[in-house]
Amino acid sequence: MLDGVLRKGLTLDSAAQGARGLAPPDHALAIAIAGEALRLLPDLDALIDSVTQRPLPPDSKARMVLRLALAQKIGLGTPDHALVATALPLVDGGPRRLVHGVLGTLLRKGILPLEAPRLPDAVEQRWRSAWGEDVVHAARRQIAQRPPLDLSFADDSVANAYAQQHGGVSLAPRHVRLPESSAVPGLAGFGEGGWWVQDLAASLPARLIPSEAADVLDLCAAPGGKTMQIAAAGHRVTSVDASKNRLARIRENLQRTKLSASLVPVDALTWDPGRGFDAILLDAPCSATGTFRRHPEVLYRARPAIIAERAALQAKLLGRAAQWLNPGGALVYSVCSLEPEEGEQIVAAFLAANPDFRLDPPTGLPAFVAPDASGQVRILPGLLEDQGGLDGFFAARLVRS
Ligand SMILES: C[S@@+](CC[C@H](N)C(=O)[O-])C[C@H]1O[C@@H](n2cnc3c(N)ncnc32)[C@H](O)[C@@H]1O
Repeated sequence: MLDGVLRKGLTLDSAAQGARGLAPPDHALAIAIAGEALRLLPDLDALIDSVTQRPLPPDSKARMVLRLALAQKIGLGTPDHALVATALPLVDGGPRRLVHGVLGTLLRKGILPLEAPRLPDAVEQRWRSAWGEDVVHAARRQIAQRPPLDLSFADDSVANAYAQQHGGVSLAPRHVRLPESSAVPGLAGFGEGGWWVQDLAASLPARLIPSEAADVLDLCAAPGGKTMQIAAAGHRVTSVDASKNRLARIRENLQRTKLSASLVPVDALTWDPGRGFDAILLDAPCSATGTFRRHPEVLYRARPAIIAERAALQAKLLGRAAQWLNPGGALVYSVCSLEPEEGEQIVAAFLAANPDFRLDPPTGLPAFVAPDASGQVRILPGLLEDQGGLDGFFAARLVRS
């Protein structure tokens, strides 16, 4: 899995497909170990390098196995004998002595838990120049924490009752935050469908859809968190996504939550809706670097070329969406990215090319969200840190004058 993510650029989910033959608990453990290794990678590598004479090559099996063993020690609290016993067979017939020696030395020296693990240098540099040193430090602290589980509810009174019953807190209307993630289908109320899992930051863009908009287009809609919010708020929703498989997940989600939307499996770059909409939400495909707490692999996959490629796609999608907006309508653009190239810069270029549009400062957002001077919403690491933090996000509401 580590090799799939680091060398082949796969998501951890797709890299984990290769281990499907494992029994479910082993499969889950393997994913947890790989996830911890990705979360802690720069510090794990520094530990390894501190006791080897020459640095081991980045893709070498010895380094990969040492990363996995140390990730278990630091991230999962695995006992030393257990991690040594599972690491060494992976290098049988190979650098077993080397791995045994490095691991033994590090374990004897004692390894402390990391309160603020470093992020990859390239990412820290990018975020330092975009957002400043404080945000880099907040991101380090956030990656060390297990993120809480956020639920979105169709109905606010149900959310409040749920929070009281299950020891959660509500940080916004129709939101409940539970302290620890547990298996979602096993959580109380899953079968009844009153809620769905959605990071609190990811619930902000749909809150920007004006309540009077009757006919709403959710563009790039799967797996459907925002479609469910918009449908639950009483709008008529058309949900478009290019991926049939991902659209099937919206269908399942809508069935479970008893909400409805028209689903359209098309590529938005070639689609012609043949009519206008009162409001459009474009939650565009992006580098997803804002989700680094739950998906630490984004820190490695989001190389500058990928960010530039996504930004080009976002600009095209936004240009098309703008053509389908009824006069006076609102177009909400959002990305779960911490890269200004995919957020602020997309909107600035759009406004420069479309003088009939202007930014409409957000209304209806929870009080902890402070829009910037121009009225855009930028969620950075550090916000609500004491309450468990949020994913990084960007959202802007544009209206046609
Ligand atoms: C960030 S995800 C959307 C998450 C979703 N809005 C939610 O809240 O659950 C981006 C989605 O865009 C879809 N997508 C990418 N390119 C597309 C295109 N050209 N046309 C339509 N959908 C596209 C992907 O399949 C993916 O499901």
